[in-house]
Amino acid sequence: MHTIHDVKMIPFVPKGDSRGELVVIEGGADIPFAIQRIFYIYGSDSDVVRGNHANKKTQFVLVNVQGTSKVRVIDRNKNEQIFVLEKPNQGLYLPTGLWKEMYDFSADSVLLVLASEHYDPEEYIRSIEDYWR
Ligand code: TYD
Repeated sequence: MHTIHDVKMIPFVPKGDSRGELVVIEGGADIPFAIQRIFYIYGSDSDVVRGNHANKKTQFVLVNVQGTSKVRVIDRNKNEQIFVLEKPNQGLYLPTGLWKEMYDFSADSVLLVLASEHYDPEEYIRSIEDYWR
């Protein structure tokens, strides 16, 4: 069972030069899984809360490639931590089995999500009561 202590912020090595910035994320190298799915979230108002689920199978890395947002992570021991995503060269690694809520999106926020599995709605736990059961 993963806990809040297994969540980590991963700094990506910047490869920019005088022409501009460049960030590379290679599955299995810069992040601890092979990337099977990419999605991104933008246009969410600052009072919106997204996520509100835990995943049985999927690991994620979240990167605010533009703008900022916050992620509240809660584990089955009811420990919680809030992470601020504010740099395009850092990713938040979330192993399986943790509750997550994304919120406080800046108007320009583009939240890129890298996932270890294809989408399967059956592996989502969408009620926090079920999660704690
Ligand atoms: P949802 O899980 O509510 O997004 P968030 O994690 O940001 O709160 O997903 C919104 C809709 O998009 C829902 O109908 C399911 C669909 N969806 C996919 O089809 N594939 C995906 O990979 C994801 C993340 C969502």
